[in-house]
Amino acid sequence: MSTSGKDYDVKDIGLADRGLLRMEWAGSEMPVLKLIQERFRREKPLAGLRLSACLHVTSETANLAVVLKDGGADIVMCASNPLSTQDDVAAALAGEHGIPTYAIKGEDETTYYQHIQAALAHRPNLTMDDGADLVTVLHTQKPELLQNVVGGTEETTTGVIRLKAMAKDGALKFPVIAVNEAMTKHFFDNRYGTGQSTLDGVIRATNILLAGKSVVVVGYGWCGRGVASRAKGMGSNVIVTEVDPVRALEALMDGFQVMPLVEAAKVADIIITVTGNLNVIDSQHVETLKDGAIICNSGHFNDEINIPAIEAQTTAKRKVRDFVEEFSLSNGRKLYILGEGRLINLAAAEGHPAAVMDMSFANQALAAEYMVKNAKELKNEVYVVPEEIDREIARLKLAAMGVTIDALTAEQQKYLASWDQGT
Ligand SMILES: NC(=O)c1ccc[n+]([C@@H]2O[C@H](COP(=O)([O-])OP(=O)(O)OC[C@H]3O[C@@H](n4cnc5c(N)ncnc54)[C@H](O)[C@@H]3O)[C@@H](O)[C@H]2O)c1
Repeated sequence: MSTSGKDYDVKDIGLADRGLLRMEWAGSEMPVLKLIQERFRREKPLAGLRLSACLHVTSETANLAVVLKDGGADIVMCASNPLSTQDDVAAALAGEHGIPTYAIKGEDETTYYQHIQAALAHRPNLTMDDGADLVTVLHTQKPELLQNVVGGTEETTTGVIRLKAMAKDGALKFPVIAVNEAMTKHFFDNRYGTGQSTLDGVIRATNILLAGKSVVVVGYGWCGRGVASRAKGMGSNVIVTEVDPVRALEALMDGFQVMPLVEAAKVADIIITVTGNLNVIDSQHVETLKDGAIICNSGHFNDEINIPAIEAQTTAKRKVRDFVEEFSLSNGRKLYILGEGRLINLAAAEGHPAAVMDMSFANQALAAEYMVKNAKELKNEVYVVPEEIDREIARLKLAAMGVTIDALTAEQQKYLASWDQGT
């Protein structure tokens, strides 16, 4: 950034060696991305393109950034969340890989948006987003840069929802591929990645025993299913709360108790929100919470827990451990909020394991390539990842895991394609 006189803003560039080791460790679990990297090095499908990526700056994302650079992109990165940055990885990207990176773990909101501005100053031809903050700032504050952009990609559910709302209003000025909508993304990343890493975040922050505890999962979407099943596997009594009757029914038949949150709060030891919605834990729930309850969020934004409303019911507050804040409530009970209500898996742990990000980021790399090839034919809308890309990633992942599957016989293919056969 111009203030530092360097083309990066990281906590400590001296952490680069540690970051490199961390990237290497993650990379060893990302065989699909590695195969794409080998082809990108040969074919340079992104040659001559300026790419601004606003993603969680973690060891897995860093591997993606290097693949994009190897594919010819002139890439810069900024954080998509103030708490998710791994400072050593940011240092490795900036110091060792020559990728200008603007991300510091714990940065305040002003710095967070300055970093997005720094990434936009790169005048991108392609955007890569996780939550649509980059695209939103680009459209609202830097419209003069829109003419350079051929298209973008979006990583997560919340970002896709925002972009679809923009497209519906006619406000979106370039096509975007919703990487989240790929089956090889949300079936695995949202479910198994968020499932495991959310509990990892809760455990690292608190070191509590999950066995025998009542864990309430708010929202039974892709992430919620993963969190609920993993908490059950750890021996917790899992309660699900929902607003969608189909998802509520699914949770019930998956073996979980289902009830309104205001009821669940009375017995909850831990509540985890994964809705992508606003103020899902609010003052009325806090009133019924039992003493010592822990609440946290693994949805994209830190607005799923209405912290200002809780503060209004609070007489004293103190930090009792890293990522654990104790709220003394006016009703005499205590409540613990983890990671300031931000994505707990990225705030207190390391985000998703590399093996699932392998598929998510294979989708990102191939979606970027697809966008460059096809942008002229696309409208200013949100597109799903083409099915052939999705299937190819699943095929490569299975092969990397040493798993082979059956193939349809010619007779079966004909049978499935016909409508006149049957008994
Ligand atoms: N922590 C992570 O690393 C991570 C990874 C992927 C996605 N996400 C984020 O997690 C959130 C959820 O993603 P998803 O893919 O599971 O979405 P989804 O749309 O599949 O599921 C969300 C669910 O929440 C329910 N819901 C909405 N409002 C509710 C309320 N007030 N009370 C109870 N339930 C409510 C919806 O009915 C839906 O079933 C999004 O913000 C997404 O961006 C986080």
